[in-house]
Amino acid sequence: MIKWGIAATGNISNQFVQGLKRIKGGEFYAVASRDLSKAEAFAKKYGAKKAYGSYEAMAADKDIDIVYIGTPNDSHITLAKLYLNAGKNVLCEKPMGVNAKQTAEMAKLAKKKSLFLMEGMWTRFFPVTQKVQAWLAEGKIGTPRFMSAFFGIESGENWRKSFALSGGSLLDVGIYPLAFTMLVFGNDYAALKGMSLNNAEGIDEVNTFIMDYQDRLATIACGVGQRMHNRVYIEGDKGRIKVDGNWWHPKRAVLTTGVQDVVDYAEKKTVFKDNYPSTGFQYEAQHVNDCVAKGLTESPIMPLSDSVAIAQAMDALRKEFGVVYKED
Ligand SMILES: NC(=O)c1ccc[n+]([C@@H]2O[C@H](COP(=O)([O-])OP(=O)(O)OC[C@H]3O[C@@H](n4cnc5c(N)ncnc54)[C@H](OP(=O)(O)O)[C@@H]3O)[C@@H](O)[C@H]2O)c1
Repeated sequence: MIKWGIAATGNISNQFVQGLKRIKGGEFYAVASRDLSKAEAFAKKYGAKKAYGSYEAMAADKDIDIVYIGTPNDSHITLAKLYLNAGKNVLCEKPMGVNAKQTAEMAKLAKKKSLFLMEGMWTRFFPVTQKVQAWLAEGKIGTPRFMSAFFGIESGENWRKSFALSGGSLLDVGIYPLAFTMLVFGNDYAALKGMSLNNAEGIDEVNTFIMDYQDRLATIACGVGQRMHNRVYIEGDKGRIKVDGNWWHPKRAVLTTGVQDVVDYAEKKTVFKDNYPSTGFQYEAQHVNDCVAKGLTESPIMPLSDSVAIAQAMDALRKEFGVVYKED
């Protein structure tokens, strides 16, 4: 059994651990919080053997194989280094680093230590995402030339809009449509152009950008404190793929082929559904668990080179937006 430690007891750690509880070959073993009573309550609620009152104390536990980091963005690098230096594999919530420099530094340390490291881009592990990739590979929509992806949420609380905690809509939610675009169109875009609405702290609350791949274009929009009509469309010369609902942890994709006209009557629709139980984190957790069990140091589905490429794109976009972090 692979033994998991969870760093932090916030929103996403609660969701992650519910998925983790469903996997094979791994167990929720320990949890750490800045506050011991919160760690103890979390351990009791989800059934962990150990509870630690600091992130550092958990690093000293020799039995832990892998740590999941679910703290705010600005602390990811410090904690990833703490656990990698303590000989633990790491699954770090997105964005892994606040900028490309941090992301590359983390990747370098994991490589040096021969330990597994992955950014928690959980969208990639859902059967719906994999079905979309299969439809594309099978040429179901012909040659894709355009895609659009939107992700805007109502909530704009705590760290999401904070300069001190390296928030902002691009790193919080925009990273999903960016990573999805790079999954479909690749990492070798030719140009990026973007605009944003920044708050008084200089953090982007709403932004939009275009990725130019020369023979393909993508248009993306995202926001915190600004709800959007969230969906992904991939448009080809023979059809279209749509992923809607909460498409970053998708339950449904629709493939539309046939004559595309002003009216839809000649079109044929194929729907792929996956009504997964629990939070959906089981797919990512199972994949990471399998990688660690096999002794891999990187995921073949979410490799570190993709994390660095995504971080580089976000750095370039933030230059366009005029968003500068203390870490830059
Ligand atoms: N994969 C996804 O879909 C997804 C969704 C949401 C968020 N995320 C990512 O997950 C991370 C955390 O997001 P969240 O929504 O879980 O946030 P959250 O509810 O505010 O929880 C963050 C936790 O981090 C710990 N923490 C350590 N230093 C902190 C500080 N200075 N201020 C506040 N909390 C601190 C706290 O746990 P203790 O008090 O126990 O120490 C806190 O409960 C972010 O990096 C975010 O990008 C991913």
